[in-house]
Amino acid sequence: MTPKTFKIKSFGCQMNVYDGERMAELLGAQGMTAAAETADADLVVLNTCHIREKAAEKAYSDVGRLRREDGSKPLVALAGCVAQAEGAEAKRRSSLIDIVVGPQAYHRLPEMVAQASRGGRPVDTDMPAISKFDAFPARRRANPSAFLTVQEGCDKFCTYCVVPYTRGAEISRPWGDIVAEAQVLVDAGAREIVLLGQNVNAWSDGNRGLAELIRHLATIDGLERLRYTTSHPADMTDALIAAHGEVEKLMPYLHLPVQSGSNRILKAMNRSHTADTYLATLGKMRTARPDIALSGDFIVGFPGETEADFEATLQIVDEVRYASAYTFKYSPRPGTPAANMEDQIPVAIMEERLQRLNERINTHRLAFNRSTVGIETQVLIERPGKLPGQMIGRSPWLQSVHVETDARPGDIVDVTLVAAGPNSMTGAARARAAA
Ligand code: 5AD
Ligand code: SF4
Repeated sequence: MTPKTFKIKSFGCQMNVYDGERMAELLGAQGMTAAAETADADLVVLNTCHIREKAAEKAYSDVGRLRREDGSKPLVALAGCVAQAEGAEAKRRSSLIDIVVGPQAYHRLPEMVAQASRGGRPVDTDMPAISKFDAFPARRRANPSAFLTVQEGCDKFCTYCVVPYTRGAEISRPWGDIVAEAQVLVDAGAREIVLLGQNVNAWSDGNRGLAELIRHLATIDGLERLRYTTSHPADMTDALIAAHGEVEKLMPYLHLPVQSGSNRILKAMNRSHTADTYLATLGKMRTARPDIALSGDFIVGFPGETEADFEATLQIVDEVRYASAYTFKYSPRPGTPAANMEDQIPVAIMEERLQRLNERINTHRLAFNRSTVGIETQVLIERPGKLPGQMIGRSPWLQSVHVETDARPGDIVDVTLVAAGPNSMTGAARARAAA
């Protein structure tokens, strides 16, 4: 039976969120409609993430839960990085899976759905030279803050990471395609665009890099804010740093993962930076844009990490004074070099280090938020809050701001930040800016 309704569930990173939106548009263009719940959907797409431990197990148990009480089931498509990593194996491991589609093959989804409706079980985890982006239909709706994937894949091969295997080599979308999509997003209601890539600052087209792209996108009327994520320290060019000081629409926020403060561990991770070169990059960034909010990723308990290595991580956290950060316990990913390294760290030690790291980061996060109290700034309203009359939006520094206002999602409101919490700010609306 040909499915009429679909539900896409995306897990993991923002690139999956973007891919999920594009797949929804693609299925919509086939005449299918989005179902509110998986229970109402003829087709369920699980858009999975493979970054951490037991990712595949989690995906299979999610698939298992799609079987309905009466014994029926929807058509099930396993998508995302678990699909890429498992390939045809997924069909052997779960008879509920009808379609296995990797992140570079989404443009083939309608055709695969048709095959599956006829009883087939298609698998496509190829990484073709043709771009899936060309096959997606034009965009019609956009959130106030919209994602736009400009780059995919990674050539860095950090020794703990599956991304180079699941998302493939670094590829950049062409300049013209990105500019056209940005314009469509703005026409569809976006006020902010977040440029996405596993290594977004490695984006290039000919001799033009991300800095030139950002400068050009900033000329689009109606687009008020630009952000980009995630960056690699090795690709943080002087041109991009300079753009932070010069392009008003480029928001003062940078997510630049360091992973560890210990040079010994950084080397074992095959990160191409040291603690000092990383700090030097941030120093230049702070010269260009003194108020920049900094964020990072950290892994604790990488194989061989000693207490002294871990203390070097705490030290870099204190030096940078992060406004936010994401922390992870090291998890061995099959097929990556680190999974076979000696001296894997016991879970209890990882947990204890994670807790100490989180405490330290929380202290800096709260200090950063407190340092912004009293600032007059602007908030891009995204959605209603829990209280009547309350809306939630983002400050330039990506803080979540609660504000009482009659403004609507997509409005940019003049706000004074009046109170700081660890995870959000309270703002008081001043005069309403033009929508
Ligand atoms: N174990 C723990 N954390 C990991 N990350 C990537 N791979 C692993 C792993 N094997 C983290 C890194 C990366 C973020 C997206 O996920 O910190 O920057
Ligand atoms: Fe993974 Fe390293 Fe590439 Fe980031 S830079 S995606 S951590 S291999």
